[in-house]
Amino acid sequence: MTKKIVVLISGSGSNLQALIDAERQGELGSGTITLVVSNKKSAYGLTRAAEASIPTYIRTLKEYKDAGKTREDFDRDLAEYIEESQHPDLIVLAGWMHILSPAFVDRFRGKIINLHPALPGELDGAHAIDRAYSEFKAGERTKTGVMVHFVIPEVDKGKPILTQDIPCVEGDSLEDLENRIHVVEHEILPKAVKLVLEDNLSVA
Ligand code: GRF
Repeated sequence: MTKKIVVLISGSGSNLQALIDAERQGELGSGTITLVVSNKKSAYGLTRAAEASIPTYIRTLKEYKDAGKTREDFDRDLAEYIEESQHPDLIVLAGWMHILSPAFVDRFRGKIINLHPALPGELDGAHAIDRAYSEFKAGERTKTGVMVHFVIPEVDKGKPILTQDIPCVEGDSLEDLENRIHVVEHEILPKAVKLVLEDNLSVA
């Protein structure tokens, strides 16, 4: 039976593209991307979705704030829209730069996964690659990594599904490290999606 995947993005969507490509190549198992949601109107990932004929949905926090509504209102309404329009089996946060409150997370417990460019327990939150690079330059680390993990209300915590170490190499620029991390992200995210859909992994 087909399993519905909703992907949430905020930017370039190169990881969304990796999922689109994987689905085309039959590498997502029974998974199919049925909707791409963006909280940024200008996200290039929306173009990638349109080119792949995947429906898109845009909702910005600014619209909510301008209307005097709260972040929780935004999260609750978005959760409701996704649930009612898709009944998704899996929600993938692929470069989604908005911290989801329990109003969203609790509705889809065990069905939301996130990609984070760092190893479990390290560099939680934004700018993880920049911070890893600064620590490497300061002689404080020799490697970083990438993980896909279940989402719980604590940011970048939650049980890891797949992780991969990435060495910091002498002579690397920040851009070199970023590029190496992105290559690994594009490999690991489709694998994690397939694993979760097929193995029925539990969040606990
Ligand atoms: C990725 O590095 C992801 O780990 C981080 O944001 C970036 C998104 O890139 N959270 P893209 O939009 O998928 O190209």
